[in-house]
Amino acid sequence: MTTANPVMEKPNRERTEEEKLLRYRVGQRIVHAVLATSFLMLLFTGLMILWQPLTLWARDGTSGLIHRIGAVLFMLVPILYLIVDRRGAKELLVESFTYDKDDIAWFKHAGRYFLGRAVGMPPQGRLNAGQKLHHAGVVITSATVVFSGIFMWYAKGNLGASGLALAASIHDLSMLTLTVLLAGHLYFTFVYKALSAMTTGYVPKEEALIEHPKWVEEIEHQQAAHD
Ligand code: HEM
Repeated sequence: MTTANPVMEKPNRERTEEEKLLRYRVGQRIVHAVLATSFLMLLFTGLMILWQPLTLWARDGTSGLIHRIGAVLFMLVPILYLIVDRRGAKELLVESFTYDKDDIAWFKHAGRYFLGRAVGMPPQGRLNAGQKLHHAGVVITSATVVFSGIFMWYAKGNLGASGLALAASIHDLSMLTLTVLLAGHLYFTFVYKALSAMTTGYVPKEEALIEHPKWVEEIEHQQAAHD
């Protein structure tokens, strides 16, 4: 498995002795910010369009307009990723759909990980099995939300009542799935204090050794090969 060009950093000794590893390059962090922002725009404006107590806010059409702007941004995410960091995009896609025996073992102990106990879990690479499943779920349900949305946007007149109802059901179910995935994603981000990976790009090596030992090993092999 390839890694995201990891770089080790020894920050200023006077500030801290902690060694850090580069987990997400700047382009990847920008893409993630666009993904998260556009998704939240879609979620909140979608709720305003659909959910009775909030439909008052949707009356002047502003939420519909913001929903469409969010949709365009959301659809641009994969293209943006390919432009700013083709290797990162490819790694995300390949790794999310590739599971080895350590990943299967990880799933068997997922309850322990859920409770915040990563020590002693089966060894993981750059992404743990749960992250792979989350990212794969995001890829698949993003595709269904986008295609059903395009149908409703452009082909509304030609779909007929049952076609429109089917497209709307796929669209709403996909959004619901993405929202459940987001809840899990946020839960693990905060339980494992992972936010720095997306804000600064770096994570403490000490923590990476517990959660992603195969990834750290790979980085060290690559460094040894360069020295
Ligand atoms: C809104 C608040 C969000 C926060 C705080 C957040 C946080 C994070 C963090 C910390 C990571 C890095 C985890 C690691 O590898 O250690 C990450 C990665 C990721 N997140 Fe989020 N996330 C948010 C929203 C979303 C949304 C809405 C989606 C999808 C619809 C999403 C999809 C992803 C994906 C696919 C990755 C992997 C990125 C890559 O490999 O380029 N995130 N997120």
